Amino acid sequence: MQKDANIDWKNLGFGYTKTDFRYISIWKDGKWDDGKLSEDNMLTMSESSTALHYGQQCFEGLKAYRRKDGTIQLFRPDENAKRFNRSASRLLMPEVPVEKFIDACKQVVKANEHFVPPYGTGATLYLRPFLIGVGHNLGVKPAPEYIFCVFCSPVGAYFKGGMTPVNFMITEEYDRAAPHGTGDVKVGGNYAASLLAHEDAVKKGFADCIYLDAKTQTKIEEVGAANFFGITQNNEFITPNSPSILPSITRYSLMHVAKEYLGLEVKERDVYVDKLDEFKEAGACGTAAVITPIGGIEYKGKLHVFHSETEVGPVTKKLYDTLYGIQFGDVDAPE
Ligand code: COI
Repeated sequence: MQKDANIDWKNLGFGYTKTDFRYISIWKDGKWDDGKLSEDNMLTMSESSTALHYGQQCFEGLKAYRRKDGTIQLFRPDENAKRFNRSASRLLMPEVPVEKFIDACKQVVKANEHFVPPYGTGATLYLRPFLIGVGHNLGVKPAPEYIFCVFCSPVGAYFKGGMTPVNFMITEEYDRAAPHGTGDVKVGGNYAASLLAHEDAVKKGFADCIYLDAKTQTKIEEVGAANFFGITQNNEFITPNSPSILPSITRYSLMHVAKEYLGLEVKERDVYVDKLDEFKEAGACGTAAVITPIGGIEYKGKLHVFHSETEVGPVTKKLYDTLYGIQFGDVDAPE
């Protein structure tokens, strides 16, 4: 008999709920231990850990979905494992073998099964794997030890309203990432640096800001913590091609859905901020955001509205329904 998590599934936002178990594994003397589940949601580490001072850490976000028949599926954890290891290598941290990463995620989902929201609520169990440099250290160098942990939390929509369009503003005041920096890996420093820009956008009445490329400030890079896509007037699915965006797994899935399920032309290419009228619809995508339709984008004091500020465009709706269907097991997943 399953325990009752006593959660109002339909009104969940994107927040932290303590669940029963998390997975933890330690890297020491050049190797990983076997790892184990733990009931303790607090970590103990040296005050001089590199994760605390020099940002030597990376993380991932993936979800577990409850299907109609009650079973649970993870969505492409192997892709998260590969991206995790690219992030780890960029910061000179040890990789976590793909099988160990996936096994940790599966153990956490199984141990917290009653926190996986019921089918039909739209909510999911969000998994947050992370890797941090720990141990005594003072100079700027890689840590002597590492903690790999996976915790989870049931979540609802990331942007309030879910599939309701929201407006974003272009920031020219802040850059998210430099061309040869760490924008293409999932490290905490990218997100810490975004907090002020996000707060500025929210204060001005927007859901978040959109970043331009740091070098020329002419091309769209990221939508807050998510990727950008647009549907052109000729029904092409366009998403930016840049070495400094985080390659979202949802974005790649949408590129596939757009091509194989909706028959759209798909292109990764530059998206110029002064050519927004080439798009009839636009959206933000990511694991947390899923698809958030972009109602309008403010640039240099003018709001450019795409399909509508209040209604979801038809192509965005089809993309969402298909992806949602695959993730919840209602639509056949691609081979
Ligand atoms: C995700 O989409 O999983 C993210 O990591 C974005 C954000 C919540 C940090």
